[in-house]
Parts: sequence; C-alpha cells; structure tokens
Amino acid sequence: MCLLDLLRQPAWAILSLLLAMVVRLQRRPRWDPQACRVKLNGKTAIVTGANSGIGMYIAMDFARRGARVILACRNESLGMAALKEITKTTGNTDIHLRLVDLSCMDSVSNFATRILEEEKALHILVNNAGVSGLPRQITKDGFEVSFATNHLGPFLLTNLLLDLMKRSAPARIVTLSSVNHKKGQVDFSHFRGENLVYGMDKVYNHTKLHNIICTNELARRLQGTGVTANSVHPGIVKTGVLRHYPFWIRYCFNLLAFFFFKTAEEGACSTIYCAVAEELEGVTGKYFDSDCSLVLPAPLARDAALAVKDFEICERLTSKL
Ligand SMILES: NC(=O)c1ccc[n+]([C@@H]2O[C@H](COP(=O)([O-])OP(=O)(O)OC[C@H]3O[C@@H](n4cnc5c(N)ncnc54)[C@H](OP(=O)(O)O)[C@@H]3O)[C@@H](O)[C@H]2O)c1
Repeated sequence: MCLLDLLRQPAWAILSLLLAMVVRLQRRPRWDPQACRVKLNGKTAIVTGANSGIGMYIAMDFARRGARVILACRNESLGMAALKEITKTTGNTDIHLRLVDLSCMDSVSNFATRILEEEKALHILVNNAGVSGLPRQITKDGFEVSFATNHLGPFLLTNLLLDLMKRSAPARIVTLSSVNHKKGQVDFSHFRGENLVYGMDKVYNHTKLHNIICTNELARRLQGTGVTANSVHPGIVKTGVLRHYPFWIRYCFNLLAFFFFKTAEEGACSTIYCAVAEELEGVTGKYFDSDCSLVLPAPLARDAALAVKDFEICERLTSKL
C-alpha cells in the first residue's frame, strides 16, 4: 500500500490532519506581529535580501506599519517585483529599491554612499540576505564567497551606516543568524577561503557564528549611543535558501516543510520582534530564538575576547577596500 492509498483511509487522513494541526499550533511564536500595534511612521528601515523569502515579509511588515522601506537587493527585476507586491499589499508608496551585491565590497560601499546621500535618518537595519551551500569561489576582493555574502558584506554595510543610525537614535540593527551557528567554528583563515571543508551547510555554519560574535561586539561598542544590535534565528523556514543544494535534499525539505517548517511569513516573526517590539527598547547584544524568546547562543558566540579579535580582523579586512 502506498502513502496515498493510506491517506485515502478516513482514519489515517483524520490522524494526519490532526498531526498537522498540532505541529502548526506548536510552532506559533509567543509574540504575534499582527497583534503588535507599534507604528513606524516617520521611520526609515533597510532590509537586505528583501525580494524573497523571510526578507520580503519583514519589509512587508515595516511597510504596513508606515515606515519608509528600502529594499536592498542585488537583482533589479526581482527587487522591482517585490516592491510592487509590497506597495500593492500594504498601500504604502514610500518603498524604494536600491541595488547591492553583498558579496562585493565595492558594491556595498556604493550602496552605503547613496544611502548616506539620500537618507536623512535610518532607524532600522535588518541584515537578512544570506546564502547557503555555495561551491567554493574567491571574490575579486579575495574573500570566500559565502563569508563575503553572509558576514563581511553585511559587516561593512553596518559599519558604513553606523553614524547615520547614531544620529537617528533610537535605532536598531537586527542580523539574521541561524541555530546552525552552533555547528560553526572560528578560524580566521576561512575568510580567505583557506582550511575550509565544503559540503551541505558546513561553510554556512561558520558564517552564521561570525554573525553573532560580531553583533555582540558591535553591541558592546554601541553602548550609550541609543543604537542596539541583536541577532536572531528565524526558525527552519520554507524559502529558497536551499537553492544551491542537490535536488533530493530540496525535495525532502519541501516534503517535510508543510508539517514541520515555518512559512516565510512565520519566519519573519523573530526579526520583526527585535526590530519593533517596545519591550526590547534598549536590549542589545542578545540572541533570539525563532519563537522570539531570548536564548543563549553557543559558547564561542559568548566569548568576549574572541569577539574583540573577530571584529578587529573584519574591520581590517573590509577597511582596506
Ligand atoms: N530558511 C531557513 O530555514 C533559515 C534558517 C536559519 C537562518 N536563515 C537566514 O535567514 C536569512 C534569509 O534567508 P531566506 O531563508 O529568506 O532565504 P532566501 O529566500 O534564499 O533569501 C535570501 C535573500 O538574500 C539575497 N542575497 C543572496 N545573496 C546576495 C548577495 N550577494 N547580495 C545581496 N543579496 C543577496 C537573495 O537575493 P536573490 O533572490 O537575488 O538570490 C534573497 O533575497 C538568511 O540570512 C538565512 O541564512 C534562514
């Protein structure tokens, strides 16, 4: 008897439906963005990778709250499609597309220069864009491509926008990491693509660990400025994040996704919480789980001395460019 035959039996069908409902109920976060009445009128937000997946729903939420939203995307037609959809859904016409390729430090600098010229204020920066499973490649800046996209590009972008954010305080920086950071390691030669073992999410995990380490050090440096910096795990979310993985992995992921994984809209929740929730005013240097609870990241991500070193190395690597 195949699975479909089994599901045709009423008892099995009802049981599967009940299981799906239980799983869906269990993955509800403890904070509901739609119940949160915080308005963002007069505020400006940047969301990187806002054309798809979690990023688009984060941008959609900010737009619904009345913010001026800048979609930082690398692909013009995908970015324009997202802009149109967000405008149509929310009625907010103050949505703008600015192009940036986070794996290229010149592109990041040009993007930041334009933002500094055009924007009077910046209240929210969401470092959402990310890639997983990319094959080995060294960028023209000499960086391993996943490290450049997931960590060094967002690191440089954040630093270039910091003065504007300090002038706009209170302001919040939220960086999307992943629970996978727990499997990551710190080896500074990785930035240049040395001593890396590839396969599945191995390289991705390291980049997500650096995200939390440097966000924590940034938070320490920003004490007293009114700008906060936190990292989040969005959950296991059905998006295009596995697009560079083999077909059979994507197939299994999509099969399991309906029952067990979050939708992109649900995956946006913990980031929106960190970006807008009133109860998080002044909270900084923390890591939040996908249900919006404050949790401890891996021990390496809590090593303050390592964080100072990591931050300085990333500063040196990106400031030469
Ligand atoms: N999905 C999950 O289960 C999961 C779990 C833990 C953490 N996360 C994190 O959540 C974040 C969002 O991921 P997602 O699941 O929404 O994946 P996604 O649907 O693949 O979205 C990723 C976004 O990043 C953009 N991007 C990739 N490389 C870029 C570059 N070089 N420059 C500028 N933008 C770039 C993509 O643009 P294009 O459309 O042009 O490629 C896309 O808009 C990532 O940081 C990811 O690590 C996701």
